[in-house]
Amino acid sequence: MSLAAGFRSTWDTLGAIGRDPVTGGYTRLVWSDTERTLREWFTAEARARALDVHEDRAGNLWAWWGDPTAGDAVVTGSHLDAVPAGGAFDGPLGVVSGLLAVDELRARAVAPSRPLALVAFSDEEGGRYGIACAGSRLLTGQLDPARALALTDDDGRTQAEAVRASGRDPDHLGADPDVLARIGVFVELHVEQGRGLVELDAPVGVATAIRAHGRWRFDLDGRPDHAGTTRLEDRQDPMLAQARLVLATRDAAARHGALATVGKVRVHPGAVNAIPGRVQVWVDARADEEVDVRAVIGELERTAGTTGREESGPPRGQREAARRDRRATSAGGRGGGGPVRALATGAGHDAGVLATAGVPTAMLFVRNPTGISHAPDEHAEEADCLTGVAALTDVLAELVAS
Ligand code: HGY
Ligand code: MN
Ligand code: MN
Repeated sequence: MSLAAGFRSTWDTLGAIGRDPVTGGYTRLVWSDTERTLREWFTAEARARALDVHEDRAGNLWAWWGDPTAGDAVVTGSHLDAVPAGGAFDGPLGVVSGLLAVDELRARAVAPSRPLALVAFSDEEGGRYGIACAGSRLLTGQLDPARALALTDDDGRTQAEAVRASGRDPDHLGADPDVLARIGVFVELHVEQGRGLVELDAPVGVATAIRAHGRWRFDLDGRPDHAGTTRLEDRQDPMLAQARLVLATRDAAARHGALATVGKVRVHPGAVNAIPGRVQVWVDARADEEVDVRAVIGELERTAGTTGREESGPPRGQREAARRDRRATSAGGRGGGGPVRALATGAGHDAGVLATAGVPTAMLFVRNPTGISHAPDEHAEEADCLTGVAALTDVLAELVAS
């Protein structure tokens, strides 16, 4: 089967899972029925390639070619979950490309001298419980499992309940140092979330850095009361504080050369005819430097008159996350058929979390003609995806021979 045919058939089977037929958006939240289907899909695709599949203590799925216990493994992959109504490529492109790269390595009769693994990290988007890269942070000990299990979703269900309902033991969820110790190098291929490669006129590029980013939650409290009988002067309405915070978010970001977004709000109790008792506001803040991210949050804390709870802060050393591993750089250039196109990203990735844990990492980006991400219009042309697979295969071939 040609690479194009292999890519298309693998992509099409995945594309049917979690897609809204009306909006074309994908909702793939951790521990949901949809995500269980995604895990089954990953397992079937891996086993069809005679890869040994196992799940680590953080819920991440691994497919091994060779003896995992030999250590110093070459690992590639990404994530399968999506933000609610997200795009098709953010995450899955890296997993599908890893599967096709295995096919290509075998077609080239490559005999790895070290183990090779494909990983599907769990809950990279944090779409259900709010913490980015939850699976890789749990794996590397950067997220306390007790805290993760106590987090609740929009229905008020804890992650512990959802983990149990998925047939797993919540007490087993946590760091997995044995698995982490097996990783020698991690290379993540990802759709670009922006138009950098469009402007560089290149199908593939290499990441130079992952900009600092973090998420904070502000709990704004008021006094719940009746919408129709409480005089305006008697109200303590947290929705007004929320409005001030949203406007302050935009102003603070502009002042600090940052990007900051309020994309999620929870109103308690959320009744049309009741003044809320509490409004929870999540702020996503990003900048070239962590100090600017924290300056934005500091201003918002003063505006809100309360401390923002750091849900998932900038992993230390993210900027090295896409340390230009020379092999990825050369392959990225070859993939683009020209000089290496290197670019930074404002999106967070599991590669950044692994780099924080000391794992040598590299990222390859595939051109996204719309530049849009976390939305149904996210896109990558098949030809560019195939160029990405070829570049990834080149990188892996060099790494497994080294
Ligand atoms: O939020 C991010 O930057 C990533 O896409 N999860
Ligand atoms: Mn994403
Ligand atoms: Mn992603």
